[in-house]
Amino acid sequence: MQLAVLPETVTDLRFTARQPGTFLVECNKICGVGHSEMRTQLVAETQDQFAAWLASQSSSVVQPAGSAQASSPLAQGRQVFQLNGCAACHTLKDVGASGTIGPDLDGIGTLAAQQIKDPSYKGHATTAQDRIREAIVSPYTYIPPGFQANVMPGNFGQTIKPDDLDALVSYLAAQK
Ligand code: HEC
Repeated sequence: MQLAVLPETVTDLRFTARQPGTFLVECNKICGVGHSEMRTQLVAETQDQFAAWLASQSSSVVQPAGSAQASSPLAQGRQVFQLNGCAACHTLKDVGASGTIGPDLDGIGTLAAQQIKDPSYKGHATTAQDRIREAIVSPYTYIPPGFQANVMPGNFGQTIKPDDLDALVSYLAAQK
């Protein structure tokens, strides 16, 4: 499936998904600066899953603007993970994500503490939490074997709100 889109123009596309799953959507024209970051995800769900998602969306709309839509920081972090397309590239059992373009994030809370001691680590983090934050906002300071730099979008520090980012980091640090 392919669709041309233009800035400032809303375009839609209809099709029938034959199987549920989370799929990577990417730009396939070398369109200019930021081309490699033009990725999002397509989520195809069963009727029941979609109905549950729809119900959860309408309950969050009644929350006052600006407040966390989830009941706890960890639940908020989980939601931030799901809303930012992380699942398209990463595996994380807690959210049912099975992406393989990036490293498996199960156990990242423990692994991050080991990564900062690795001789090939080039960042400045001194704790697991800092390492996870750095991996999200200024990636490529440590590339786990088998993965490539410049694939993970480099602009999450701008696109994710500060309190959502804090929640996301705490949530991932808790994955031990
Ligand atoms: C387009 C694919 C892609 C997306 C989308 C993506 N990542 Fe990544 N991510 C990668 C790749 C590839 C790496 C390994 C290379 C690197 O660190 O840049 C990585 C590395 C990481 C690491 C470090 C893991 C380790 O073991 O070193 C964390 C943490 C991480 N990503 C979190 C996230 C979060 C949170 C999101 C969503 C806000 C996200 N990623 C979205 C591809 C992606």
